[in-house]
Amino acid sequence: MNVYLETPRLILRAVKEEDAPGFFELDSDPEVHKFLGNKPVKDIKESEEAIKYIQKQYEEKGIGRLAIIDKASKEFVGWSGLKYETVVRADFPYYDLGYRLKKKFWGKGIATEAAIASLEYGFLQLRLEEIYAAADLDNMGSNKVLQKLGMKLVDQFEYCQALHNWYKITTAEWLAMSS
Ligand SMILES: CC(C)(COP(=O)(O)OP(=O)(O)OC[C@H]1O[C@@H](n2cnc3c(N)ncnc32)[C@H](O)[C@@H]1OP(=O)(O)O)[C@@H](O)C(=O)NCCC(=O)NCCS
Repeated sequence: MNVYLETPRLILRAVKEEDAPGFFELDSDPEVHKFLGNKPVKDIKESEEAIKYIQKQYEEKGIGRLAIIDKASKEFVGWSGLKYETVVRADFPYYDLGYRLKKKFWGKGIATEAAIASLEYGFLQLRLEEIYAAADLDNMGSNKVLQKLGMKLVDQFEYCQALHNWYKITTAEWLAMSS
């Protein structure tokens, strides 16, 4: 998949095998996984598998999470973007917006910046009609990002023994905000 998105500070591009050390730094951090089931990875092979999983979705669905690269330093920041999600809400496959950043990049507006580019890509390039996102109720940062994006809280549901907020935004809502 040949995707390349640019924001003032970031590049979002397809995930590559060479991102494995960055994925490992990200996903081996227990704080990053605090609201993600508390199971940080222990071996870089798990990161290599995660990359293969994303690349499989590129091939099969033409969509998938994108690596975030800091323009200034060229460093791997984490990932953001869309995913065709079939597990989280078993009876309702949907297009999911997500993000996960290395801790040193938290608190700088980066998740919001990457997510805005991801929504724009989803609505304008992929022509999706609606995009959803889920966040653990206690994950203050993630809930704040989703609210800042203009996503609407439409439901709550239990996932991995934790209550999650369920957000949605439609093309029409997004266009109304962007104009
Ligand atoms: C959640 C996460 C992506 C937020 O990234 P970020 O780049 O720090 O978020 P932003 O800087 O864009 O913050 C957006 C808003 O949320 C607020 N915020 C961010 N983290 C916060 C926290 N832990 N507690 C309270 N508010 C927080 C910011 O202050 C900002 O609000 P403001 O614009 O009013 O100042 C990041 O903490 C992360 O990667 N966490 C681990 C993975 C994760 O939980 N992913 C989400 C799964 S649903």
